[in-house]
Amino acid sequence: MSMRLNKFLSSCGIASRRKCEEIILAGRVSVNGKVVSNLSTVVNEKSDKVEVDGNAVKLPSQFFYLKMNKPKGYACTASDERGRKTIFDLVENKDVRLFNVGRLDYDTEGLILLTNDGEFANIVTHPKYHFEKEYIVTAEGEVKEGDLAVLRKGVVIDGERMPTARVKLLGYDGKWSKVSVVIDEGQNHQVRRMFEAIGKDIKLLKRVRIGEVHLGGLYRGRTKPMTEKEIAFFKKGI
Ligand code: URA
Repeated sequence: MSMRLNKFLSSCGIASRRKCEEIILAGRVSVNGKVVSNLSTVVNEKSDKVEVDGNAVKLPSQFFYLKMNKPKGYACTASDERGRKTIFDLVENKDVRLFNVGRLDYDTEGLILLTNDGEFANIVTHPKYHFEKEYIVTAEGEVKEGDLAVLRKGVVIDGERMPTARVKLLGYDGKWSKVSVVIDEGQNHQVRRMFEAIGKDIKLLKRVRIGEVHLGGLYRGRTKPMTEKEIAFFKKGI
């Protein structure tokens, strides 16, 4: 199959299409031994030899799409500079080089997707597609209607308004409140910062859904393949 060079590189998991264009323009990519800087270059995945910084890059022979229930205390990185456990310690099949689609904080648990399809990862994480992410927050004390209103409007942190959120109180047992928070952008530590802004400590933060993909009853620390329908949900988004 032939495709644009930036799409090819992104599918190989090099970076997003935009970043791949920068890599091409920087003269780091060669096709059949010749450096190319033309962004409309088309390559054939079977017959062309593509290299980035002198290293051959190839499309995986098979794409894998997994969902994981990440436990608290695992880093979303291939190798943690502080030597902490990573989510890849939990993946049984170590023969395929997978990467995580977006991130969850070290102390956040719940749904994270893993794949070796760079294009898929770009689609799921690209802000322009606005895929919803739903979190269940267990926060200390009572989260009142006024707090929810502030979260809905978008809290202001250091003069910057955080994106609006759909929030719903699921329950309060006299000590802890459970709140469903749905956002469609993913700024760093967004949910934690939102709750910090309303003065509530988070005891547990758990992601339960991305788009139409639900965590469901997947056990903590386990992975399972995404269904065709789940994969198609994201692919049809483009
Ligand atoms: N928001 C956060 O604050 N942390 C996460 O891990 C995910 C969303």
